[in-house]
Amino acid sequence: MTTNRQWILKRRPTGVPADADFELIESPVPEPGDGEFVTRNLVLSVDPAQRGWMDKGGNYFPPIPLGAAVSAGVIGEVISSRNPDYPVGDRLYAIGSWSEYSLLGAGFVFRKLPADNTIPLAKYNSLLGGMGCSALIALRDIGKPKAGETLFISGAAGNMGTLAGQIGRIYGCHVVGSAGSDEKCRYLEDVLGFDATLNYRTAGDLSAAVRQACPEGIDIYYDNVGGPMLEAVLDNINMRARIVMNGSIAEYNDTEPRPGPRNLWNLLVKRAFIEGFLLPDFADRIDDALVQLEDWYRAGKIDAREDIRTDFTRMPAIFRALFDGSNKGKLMVSLE
Ligand SMILES: NC(=O)c1ccc[n+]([C@@H]2O[C@H](COP(=O)([O-])OP(=O)(O)OC[C@H]3O[C@@H](n4cnc5c(N)ncnc54)[C@H](OP(=O)(O)O)[C@@H]3O)[C@@H](O)[C@H]2O)c1
Repeated sequence: MTTNRQWILKRRPTGVPADADFELIESPVPEPGDGEFVTRNLVLSVDPAQRGWMDKGGNYFPPIPLGAAVSAGVIGEVISSRNPDYPVGDRLYAIGSWSEYSLLGAGFVFRKLPADNTIPLAKYNSLLGGMGCSALIALRDIGKPKAGETLFISGAAGNMGTLAGQIGRIYGCHVVGSAGSDEKCRYLEDVLGFDATLNYRTAGDLSAAVRQACPEGIDIYYDNVGGPMLEAVLDNINMRARIVMNGSIAEYNDTEPRPGPRNLWNLLVKRAFIEGFLLPDFADRIDDALVQLEDWYRAGKIDAREDIRTDFTRMPAIFRALFDGSNKGKLMVSLE
């Protein structure tokens, strides 16, 4: 192969990203310089955070320059290398882009994949990579779960939500989740063993619905969505509650700043706190977290559901699934 197809950002999206914000272009497969290597990408991750990278202000990453390939997590196999630490044949999980091939340096690599191939490749994106580490470290080290406490999770049927819920159950929490369909709620209760769920799209008064689902109040909130659900949860927190701000997907496509929660005062009343989580701040805990997650996975205590698409020519439409809720698990595109 000499041609590299890649999705570039053509225009900054306003609201939900449109097809016309992106373009599929072809260029030669890159050649590695000193210290660099090239991967043939096998899996491209599709993540809510990429929406912020498309804005002119970026988020915790700088913005993607217009005309540049859309940055993304990738699982790839090294096909040419001028870095002895990453020889041809190595498979790794790295920050690349929505491209068939990526030119990388060591600083882009999150982890190498083991050579033994006993775990499906997609698991290294959904569970045994940055996503799993984030769910575990954020819940364990900020949420500080104790057996018997009530853990409430929004976006509960998504990748981060299902992982946080299973980890909460391992810690002995009473786990309650919100999701956008009855089918997702049934999955959480029947398959993952959540103690209760609510469908936020049909619940009506969210604060009352949270109270009904969590009659003992909420000790830990693992927040994936922000928006109105945060206010509803703040109405229902217990003394010394911990709120882990993991994401705010309900707000990523906002075109106007939205009013903040009207009840932040309740943090003082309940001596509670909110803390934002980002994995690089906990880099020294990643190796142990990966070992823990793999142990739990092999023992059948945790798993991730993957939503693997194959049509690389439809990346913008696939990305939109995150925002209309039609993804069922960790969204990614396989190029194998
Ligand atoms: N801090 C970190 O290190 C970190 C790492 C990874 C991800 N995250 C964050 O975690 C969250 C979940 O990410 P994920 O990769 O696991 O995606 P995901 O939950 O698998 O997919 C996104 C889900 O968000 C829900 N959603 C979309 N718009 C919504 C809205 N307006 N209100 C409520 N829910 C909405 C949809 O489910 P419904 O059908 O339930 O609406 C959709 O399926 C995101 O906020 C993401 O930015 C943070």
